[in-house]
Formats: sequence, structure tokens, C-alpha cells
Amino acid sequence: MCGIAGYIGDRNAPEILFDMLKRLEYRGYDSAGIACISDQGVTVFKDKGKVDEVRGKVDCEKILSKTGIAHTRWATHGEPSEYNAHPHSDCTGRFIVAHNGIIENYKDLRAGLTGRGHKFESETDTEVIPHLIEELYTESFEAAFREALKKLRGSFAIVAISTLEPDKILIARKDSPLIVGLGNGENFIASDTPAILPNTKKILILDDFDYGVVTKNSVAIKDIQTGDELKKKVQTIQWNIKQAEKEGYPHFMLKEIFEEPEAVKNAIKALKGVEDIAKKLTRYKRIYFVACGTASYAGLMGKYLLERFSIPSDAVSASEFRYSTINTIDSDCAIIAVSQSGETADTIASVKKAKDKGAYILSIVNVLGSTLTRISDDNIYTYSGPEIAVASTKAYLGQMTSITVLGLYLAREFGKIDGDYVNEIIDDISNLPGKIQQILSNEDEIKELARKLSDKDIFFYIGRRLNYPTALEGALKIKEISYVHAEAYPAGELKHGPLALLEKGVPVVAINPNDDLLEKMDSNIQEARARNAIILVVGENGDLKTPMIDPLLSPILYVVPLHLFAYYISVFKGLDPDKPRNLAKSVTVE
Ligand code: AGP
Repeated sequence: MCGIAGYIGDRNAPEILFDMLKRLEYRGYDSAGIACISDQGVTVFKDKGKVDEVRGKVDCEKILSKTGIAHTRWATHGEPSEYNAHPHSDCTGRFIVAHNGIIENYKDLRAGLTGRGHKFESETDTEVIPHLIEELYTESFEAAFREALKKLRGSFAIVAISTLEPDKILIARKDSPLIVGLGNGENFIASDTPAILPNTKKILILDDFDYGVVTKNSVAIKDIQTGDELKKKVQTIQWNIKQAEKEGYPHFMLKEIFEEPEAVKNAIKALKGVEDIAKKLTRYKRIYFVACGTASYAGLMGKYLLERFSIPSDAVSASEFRYSTINTIDSDCAIIAVSQSGETADTIASVKKAKDKGAYILSIVNVLGSTLTRISDDNIYTYSGPEIAVASTKAYLGQMTSITVLGLYLAREFGKIDGDYVNEIIDDISNLPGKIQQILSNEDEIKELARKLSDKDIFFYIGRRLNYPTALEGALKIKEISYVHAEAYPAGELKHGPLALLEKGVPVVAINPNDDLLEKMDSNIQEARARNAIILVVGENGDLKTPMIDPLLSPILYVVPLHLFAYYISVFKGLDPDKPRNLAKSVTVE
């Protein structure tokens, strides 16, 4: 996933473009670049490195331009380097393009273009786009751009400029997000809202197979196939700029962990209509939670929750679902897709395939207007606010809150529990933000534990039933922001092999709610302790202490210390928790 941006107006384009890139950096940060156009021609500057590093090499005041495009990269084709950084140009330097996505047929296109004399400078799939425009150009930049788009297969969000028509930016979208921010006498183009927010809250969201012509005073969105102009509804971004900034925290991740109480509150507030959705779900014979990464653990928690009420369901990683489980899907199935960004390629592909098979699609999503929400039959928004850090935290609690309430209503619809119990648990959920706050107030103790264990090169996380996903999430957080190996197991599985890995000093995090399996967990903890492992218990009397809670809600509460713990392990290892190597915030490529 990458971040692309464009600006056209009367202000200095380079400064604005770098500011926009900075706010898109969570989407990719291995190289960055800008291309600015004026009557004197085009200036392109790009290099390997994060946005600030590249910006530091550019004297923006010297580039007198009011129109430009920009890109911050998460490498898919071609290593991070100056020559693979975007934007990319054609042979003549008249057409310049930045792109997010994957052009799946780029090899054939590149072979054909090369055979007709085009010279390529990079290893990227993207570079075929400006050369296609060059090849197809006769007298209209727009016409050549549109014809080039028709030849592309795969996913793209594109911004393009030309020295031949410097008064416009051309844009296009298929399977990668792109929005236009509407200003006064100026317009902004970006992959996501944080880059737009400092300048305007009014946006147009492109749909798949839309393209557009953006000048400083106009935005025309058209259909790639027909060229017909389309009517697009102006939408207002729900977030304010402060929500998309660090507000004094050292990292977005820490800020977003401290926003977890709010995330639970907002998810509860957003649940009007969830009872009707629960009623709809009773029409289906099989329910599948489908998601990736952290969101898939929220789905797995949902599976265990429904099983608690004797309701069968399954939870499948989207990357597996789309190629295997999909063969069993039909109109008797309901798919509950879970996604913070609503742009994850594997999740979207799974939903599209399930839809084609007649399944009902419910999505639980954070980002309003995202692709996933536009292909679903119903949506439950978590309203967690912008989640900028690559590691998902507050959105996970929002997802689990929504899934828990949905599961309660579904169990009531199936006659497994009564309304009083539903209300009792929902009351408990409304007390969760305060209990999360209690854990956050123990930050220093958790920080000290992380300091002591920050030199460890392996971690084990164990949990049972609803808290096996908690163990998976705790382990993933350590892996993705500390680069330390961490294994999560159902606690009962430890003795079936992994126990052989335990020895003196190996840390084992045991998620141990006060429920009917407390003794079972205690014996698993003893098994580990007998091998001189370092035990960290998450629970009411644990090392990572948690307030009393109905075990049904323990996954939402018990993950909070694990998020803080992983954050501080990363910090003590001198890493950047917000921008872990090799990763991107939303994986919009397959
Ligand atoms: C979680 O910390 C990771 N950033 C990653 O696993 C993420 O949860 C996954 O890519 C799914 O993203 P989504 O929720 O936006 O679909």
C-alpha cells in the first residue's frame, strides 16, 4: 500500500505536497517523491527514505509551482530506491504519474512498449502507465489517459500531470482508495482523509472505474468506459484535524492505545440497528467471520462468543477464505467481514466472491465510505476515529465491542439467552471504558515489565476459548513492532509440543480470566513455571493486573495491557512503533 497526493491551486505546491505525504506516511515509507509543474516545465524530486528525509533534500521555495503530485511508497515491485520511487515519467518527460496498487499485466504491457522503442528506468509496474499515455497521446491528455486506463488490469489509484496541459491533474481509481478534497480556488487529491483534513472537510470519494479531471476551480468525475460525467455526492469528513495528529504523544500508537476507552464508548453508541441485523442473520444457516491480521482475531473472538451460546460459526483468514472456504459458500451463508481500513485486498476479494455466490454480507468497519462498506449489504461502523499507527489497537477494541453486542442480540434471537441477560452484559460493556482507564493508569508498571523483558528473543502467549484470539493479538503486536518472534497457542496445546521450547528465562504471557477454566489455566501456568519460564499472568490477580469483569468481556479488557506491553518493548528496543519495517497500515495489494 502506498500514499498518493495531488494539489492544484494558487499556493506553493511542493510544501503542501510534502505536508500531505507526511500524513499519508503510515501507508508506506520506504521512499518518497514529488513532481511539480509550471509554465517552465516539470520538476521531479524523489529518493529512498522517509518523507522527512526526502523533504530535507529539496529546497521547496525554489520550485515555483502551483500544481503537483506526490507519493510515499511501500515497495511491491522493485526494491526501495531512487529509481523505483514515484513519480514516474514517460520517455519524453511530458507525462508524470504516481500510483498506488498493482498493475497485474504490467509485464505484457512493458514488453510491448519496449518492443516499440520505449525506454524504462525502473523495475516498477507503475512505469508502464506514463509510457502508455505517451504512446496513446495525439491531442488530448485526458483522452490518452482514459485509453491507457482501459489497458490496465489489477488495482490502481492514480494521479497524473502533463507539461502539455499544466492546468489540470488527472486521477483514476480501481480497488485502491482515492478522494478529492474540495477547497476554495484549490483542490486536493489523496489516498486517505488525514492528508485532506488540514485544508478541507468536504470530499468526493471516487468509486471503482471512475476517473477525473481536477483543476483549481473544478472537479469532473467520469466513467472510464463511457467517458460520461458522473454525479458525486459531496461528503463531510467526520474527524477533526487533531484526531489525525499525535497531540503530544511520542507515537500515534500510544495515543491510540489511550483512546481505547473512547473507542469502546463510540462503538456502543454506533450500534443502533444492530438488533435488526441480528434478526437478518438468523435467516442464514452458516456464519463466517472473514478478515486479516488483528481484525481476524476479532472475528475469531466472535466465533468463540457465538459458541458460548451454542451458535455454530467459523472464522477464516480472508487470504485462505477466498481460495478455499469460498467453494462451500452459497446463499444460505452470512459473511461478517471485519476491517479497520475497509481497503484490505484479501478481505474485499473474499467479500466480492461470497457476494457472487449469493451470501449476505455484513461488514464491521472503521473508515466511513471505504471500499468494503460500499460492497456490503449492511455495515456496522466502529467509529474508533482515525487509526494512523500501522499496528491496530483501538480499532480492535471497537471491533470486539461491536461483535460482542451483535453476538448477544443474535443469541437472544435464537432463544439462547433472554433480554435481561443482554441488558446486563451491555451495562457491563458501558462500564468497560472506566476499567480500561484503570489499566492505562498502571502504564508505569507495564512499562517497567517491558523494560525488563525487552532483551528477550522469543515470547509465548497462551489463552483459552475467547482469549485464544487475545493471545494471538498479543503475539502479533510483539512481532510486528518489535521484530521479536512470538508464538500464541491455545493453552491446552502447550504440552503437545511447544512445551519443549520452554526453558529458563523464556517469557510466557498467560491470559487468565476468572472463569470456569481458571484451574485449567493454572495447571498450564504450572507446566510452564516448572520449566523455569518467566510467567506473566494477565488477570484479576496477575502481573498484568486487570479489574474484575464478566469473562465474556475479558478479551476487550485483557488485550489493553498487551498493547501497552508490546508498545514499550518496541520503544526500549529503539524502534519506531508507528512505522515498523516491511509493513503498511492497510494492505491493499494481494
Ligand atoms: C495489525 O496490527 C496489522 N496492522 C494488520 O494485521 C491489520 O490488522 C490487517 O492488515 C487488517 O487490516 P484491516 O483491519 O484494515 O483490514
